[in-house]
Amino acid sequence: MGWTPKYLIQNGAMIPWAEGRLHPHSMAVTYAATVFEGIRAYRHPTTGAYAIFRLDEHLARIAQGVKIMRFENPPTLDVMRAGILKLIPANDPDDDVYIRLQVLIDGPGHQGTRGPTGWTAVAIPRERSAGFNKGLSVGFSSWTRLSDNSSPPRVKAVANYHAGRLVTMQAQADGYDTALILNSQGKVSEAPGACLFIVRDGKLLTPNLNSDILESVTRDTVIAFAREMGLRVHEVPVDRTELYVADEVFLCGTGQELVPVTQVDRLQVGGGQPGPVTMRLQARYEALVRGTSDDHPEWRTKVEG
Ligand SMILES: Cc1ncc(COP(=O)(O)O)c(C=O)c1O
Repeated sequence: MGWTPKYLIQNGAMIPWAEGRLHPHSMAVTYAATVFEGIRAYRHPTTGAYAIFRLDEHLARIAQGVKIMRFENPPTLDVMRAGILKLIPANDPDDDVYIRLQVLIDGPGHQGTRGPTGWTAVAIPRERSAGFNKGLSVGFSSWTRLSDNSSPPRVKAVANYHAGRLVTMQAQADGYDTALILNSQGKVSEAPGACLFIVRDGKLLTPNLNSDILESVTRDTVIAFAREMGLRVHEVPVDRTELYVADEVFLCGTGQELVPVTQVDRLQVGGGQPGPVTMRLQARYEALVRGTSDDHPEWRTKVEG
């Protein structure tokens, strides 16, 4: 996976990659006044055609973030949608594409400044998680998850990822692949860049939307197709020790995709190997995102050209 991005979009204009500019005194820099999306476009293995997975749900989520952050005169979703659809062929990729869409305040201001609101989109390569086949070792962080009443996790705000970086760097220092974060109620929330499921006695459990998590598109996707596969899924508050006694644990997200967790706090999950339910779900997810299954065509937006 080594293609090089050539063009990006800044405020509606497609410009060469090296010409992207943001003023150092813009609100996006001085107050992290930016909300974003991470979106994937997958290349079909035989036709080579690209399809963007759940594009409209990502656009709807950025609109929610823009509303909560009270940005003034944001770009319309149609404008950003059309831009992303042009950006992929313009970059002439030869493998899967990761799109980072941002809506931001690109002028100077103070904390109450609400515009001017600009937007950017880049298309870049992104590798699979190293744990995709073999699983990840995760540890619970000593940092507490952000909460809705301080820096709402439901908003995919750049500012929230300051906390995610602290968690990630602690996990690195402690020798884990990544970490899980407890919320201020002491319940499991999520990883710094992915949501969490556990499998116990044949049922799936995942922290509910009031557990200080991002309203993840992948989590929603997994809940939908797991139920279609006949599995029971419960969205509930989850305790740390429920992971210790779970049969299987996995993370999911657009960037992470669906990745088994084989150790939590150095305790083996189940038999210490990726579990059968997780691997069935991973295969199903791969078929859905890549379009090798005909199911849910409404989730894949074809990219022309
Ligand atoms: C904090 C956090 N949680 C969960 C997710 C998963 O969200 P989604 O499935 O919409 O990509 C992400 C991003 O991938 C994230 O950054």
